[in-house]
Amino acid sequence: MSMIRHRQTYFLFHSYKQIKNIRFTHPGIYWNMTEAVHDTAKSGFVDGENYDRFRPSYTDEVVKLISSIITETQTDKEDNVKYDCVELGAGTGKLTQKLIKELPKVEKYLATEPMDGFQKMLKQNCPGIDTQICTAEKIPVPSECVKTVLAAQCFHWFANTTSLDEINRILIPGGKFLMVWNNKDWKVPWVKDMEGILTRYYGDTPRAVSYQWKEVIEKCPHFRCVRHEILPGTLLKGCRNDVLGHFCSISVIASLDENEKLKVRSEMEAVMDKHSLAKGTDDITVPFNTELYVAEKLTNK
Ligand SMILES: C[S@@+](CC[C@H](N)C(=O)[O-])C[C@H]1O[C@@H](n2cnc3c(N)ncnc32)[C@H](O)[C@@H]1O
Repeated sequence: MSMIRHRQTYFLFHSYKQIKNIRFTHPGIYWNMTEAVHDTAKSGFVDGENYDRFRPSYTDEVVKLISSIITETQTDKEDNVKYDCVELGAGTGKLTQKLIKELPKVEKYLATEPMDGFQKMLKQNCPGIDTQICTAEKIPVPSECVKTVLAAQCFHWFANTTSLDEINRILIPGGKFLMVWNNKDWKVPWVKDMEGILTRYYGDTPRAVSYQWKEVIEKCPHFRCVRHEILPGTLLKGCRNDVLGHFCSISVIASLDENEKLKVRSEMEAVMDKHSLAKGTDDITVPFNTELYVAEKLTNK
């Protein structure tokens, strides 16, 4: 008996080790599925206050558009609906706080986020809303009771079949999955030079501009694309320190040790010098556009 138990334990231990080391090669499944939050996200999304200070918000136009898509999504089984919207990776609530002001029923909104430090800030920024700590791969919501699922600036972090199966599970038939990103305008020469610095640190860290997320959603049998557009985004305005704060809040830089961060900061200062972005003024603009992608859950015939 004890021998059997020992062999079972041995087998379980070694299976666990193997599972932990699996790296899927399917496009979009970038990391170890037993630990849904990527290591860079775990160490780069810790300081909610810093993120909240330096990241852009969403334009009124985008917020109104998202709100209208949420409210237009209808069902003839309204009694089954628990949430009009479940937001994934809500972060510090940059979009949430604006969106809940537009929506008719705040009590039908659930904002979720896997990182403690970010959820704390989310609660501060959006008092009174329902929040949960969870990943997109395991959402603590019953099946087929959500009209829309929203992912702002984050689907690239969980563009994998596990999360898409989970999103499909919680959505009502015909429900919508809305993805939105604030993308920097990399065509602007100084922003392009900043990108050169960031790119060195990305490695296999998921990145929205790689568009691997698009390949994943488009291959997913549960959804079809019903809308994809690029809209004017927010303009982040500030002094050199604000600009540095913004670029250093990006997860691949925020997760570096202090010495490396200082090195990156001085390289970024050199880029700003090269492009004559004035010292001591507060009118530097980081240009953004907002990308919106809406997928509709297909109903089984
Ligand atoms: C760039 S932030 C976006 C935050 C916020 N939505 C916004 O618009 O500012 C990316 C967010 O994705 C979250 N995230 C990373 N991996 C995740 C996963 N597997 N499931 C759900 N959220 C995840 C991070 O914790 C972080 O809050």
